[in-house]
Amino acid sequence: MTGKICGTGSFAPSFTMDNHDIAKLVETSDEWIQERTGVVRRHIIREETTVSMAAEAGKRALDNAGMSAKEIDLILVSTISSNVVLPCAACEVQKELGAVHATCFDLSAACTGFVLAYNTAMAYLASGVYQNALIIGSESLSNLTNWEDRGTCILFGDGAGAAVVRACDQKAYIPVTHSDGARGAALSCTSRYDKSGLAGNVDPQEWMEDRYLMQMDGRAVFKFAVKSVPQAVEELLEKNQVEKEEIAWYILHQANRRIVESVAKRLGESIEKFPMNLQEYGNTSSASIPILLDEMNRKGLLKRGQKIVLAGFGAGLTWGASLLEW
Ligand code: ACO
Repeated sequence: MTGKICGTGSFAPSFTMDNHDIAKLVETSDEWIQERTGVVRRHIIREETTVSMAAEAGKRALDNAGMSAKEIDLILVSTISSNVVLPCAACEVQKELGAVHATCFDLSAACTGFVLAYNTAMAYLASGVYQNALIIGSESLSNLTNWEDRGTCILFGDGAGAAVVRACDQKAYIPVTHSDGARGAALSCTSRYDKSGLAGNVDPQEWMEDRYLMQMDGRAVFKFAVKSVPQAVEELLEKNQVEKEEIAWYILHQANRRIVESVAKRLGESIEKFPMNLQEYGNTSSASIPILLDEMNRKGLLKRGQKIVLAGFGAGLTWGASLLEW
């Protein structure tokens, strides 16, 4: 027993900021951002929230699967930027969709989050605990972005993507996942609610202080990504006795065009197998893989039987790769 994706959906806010807009906030240029990252514009929330985007992406995935919310018995939302601490975003999505039979909880693993949500759903489906899972990655990173830091504000965007995974009787693949908390300082963000002494009682005046916003050692994250992702993919293929020639698509977390190109090169695979949409969305953390999956599905690029690798990497540090058959 395993699971199969039978529907996808996504949502992006209509408000966008292009690189010229960013260049009005910090010392940078469209040329620099495009050359170093590949990003051209990003969608940013206005009225939307992490929960509202998650619910809309989930609704679209259900429509695409031709299923009713009442058939879903598990909802997982992967997010690091929820607008609610309690109840969890997944319970809020359940309420919006009327998925009354679902068990709901959130996962937090930054840009690896959707891969881990997929693996978690697959493990539950494989063991027969649940039959129909709705997995969602939704992020409002603009709330965590330091709009005065040119090293980070050029990269991130908001959005949500979702997939419906249904239990089915076919070959199960083993995923590869890794974490290294010792390197966590490379990408961090302190909670505004932390009263441990590190953050102290938060004065509203300090709300936008750097420590409550994302901090990143860009070079360290870049080096980690280009080394760890190809290794994880090689490990995944070896574990599952699958050859590279059998892989139709590598759907990577959309962080930076140069990272995707470097991973393709290190794997000795054609860049044609590595679709990208980061030029339109920037890095949307756990939403990037399902948004790209949904775009490819709706364009008719995904054919039944194709083998696809999903690979995520990010804060934690966390990284991993999963193999699926469309
Ligand atoms: N515009 C113009 N110049 C800039 C900018 C900018 N936005 N940012 C940095 N620079 C300058 C620097 O000051 C530096 O100048 P100097 O040589 O005079 O000191 C020069 O450009 C090079 O800076 P680097 O930081 O080395 O630039 P790099 O080529 O590494 O690009 C970037 C920076 C784009 C952040 C890159 O390191 C990167 O993409 N890293 C990975 C980030 C990532 O993927 N993070 C997300 C992980 S997912 C998650 O979990 C959220």
